[in-house]
Amino acid sequence: MKKYSLRAGLSAILCCGFSVLVTELASAQKTLKDAYKDYFPVGVAVAPRNLSGPEAELIVRQFSSITPENAMKMGPIHPEPDCYEWETADAIVAFAQKNGMKVRGHTLCWHNQTPKWFFTDAAGKQVTREVLLERLKQHITDVVGRYKGRIYAWDVVNEAVPDTGTAIYRQSKFYEIIGEDYIEKAFEYAHAADPSAKLFYNDYNTESSSKRAKIFELLKKLKEKNVPVHGVGLQGHWSVYEPSEAELQESISRFASLGLAVQITELDVSIHAKEHGRREMTPADKTVLTPELLSKQAAQYEMLFKTFRKNRGVLTGITFWNISDKSTWLDNFPVRGRKDYPLLFDENLQPKAYFNKIVDF
Ligand code: GLA
Repeated sequence: MKKYSLRAGLSAILCCGFSVLVTELASAQKTLKDAYKDYFPVGVAVAPRNLSGPEAELIVRQFSSITPENAMKMGPIHPEPDCYEWETADAIVAFAQKNGMKVRGHTLCWHNQTPKWFFTDAAGKQVTREVLLERLKQHITDVVGRYKGRIYAWDVVNEAVPDTGTAIYRQSKFYEIIGEDYIEKAFEYAHAADPSAKLFYNDYNTESSSKRAKIFELLKKLKEKNVPVHGVGLQGHWSVYEPSEAELQESISRFASLGLAVQITELDVSIHAKEHGRREMTPADKTVLTPELLSKQAAQYEMLFKTFRKNRGVLTGITFWNISDKSTWLDNFPVRGRKDYPLLFDENLQPKAYFNKIVDF
């Protein structure tokens, strides 16, 4: 009897100790994709160079979705009229499939990173509306068609609304040559090429009340015309200073009220105040991640993910723009050479100190 209770006591202690250990290990090991598996896929933008070595391991361990950072943009994928560069885009899609990850396609129609030939004829003269529509149709049909069934969501039109002024439409070549219906045409072409893909309008600065209102008008018009638009992508290029919880919630609720899904498609939280135009470095520009900035960033990420969780069901995806602070597009934008630290993983690919607050809730 005595012997039995001693053993029972010992095993209780061992068992208890073991379960504490297991809990600790489990929490230390919690990953973004596991923590949010009942909420939304957590994705990351990648380049082919990220698909081997430690970065690839981190991608596979932490994320459940990927977006090609540049490989599917018009310029890189369709550099000449009859020539597509499929290799890098194919490699990214194959990597995702091999690792059981979703793919977001990015992006079919954007005023930046377009190939030079797209808007001119062989003599260098600007093409007509008919020719440009035909080219847009061909491009979208070919690209969406190639990945039909393998890309679950596409950013169809990117950044068609200007930051300032009252006009809804950015003065892009697409708008100038075709007119405002280039947007609905792009969605129709994409829907015809893959009727099961979820189609998104994607933009930045979506928490500015004036820009939000213009994007809302644009999307409302598209919905009224029964254009096959299924969601809106809030890029989420934010900073430790903005947006506020109320601003973010207002954007999500407003767009959701149109019956659209919402995704955060290019998330990063810069340590610098937000600027949308390029400029030179000045002595006032700081390039160090101070403890104060790190704690502001922790608070901002905690607020963002708390808000994302609250909007479960409406928010159908969160994607980070780049993997870690080792290399981010913000190191060169808006100020060339000004280091930034906008991601959850540091320059050594390690989770930042506050990471557990994002995955343990
Ligand atoms: C925009 C585009 C992205 C990317 C970023 C900067 O947000 O949508 O594709 O180019 O700018 O890296």
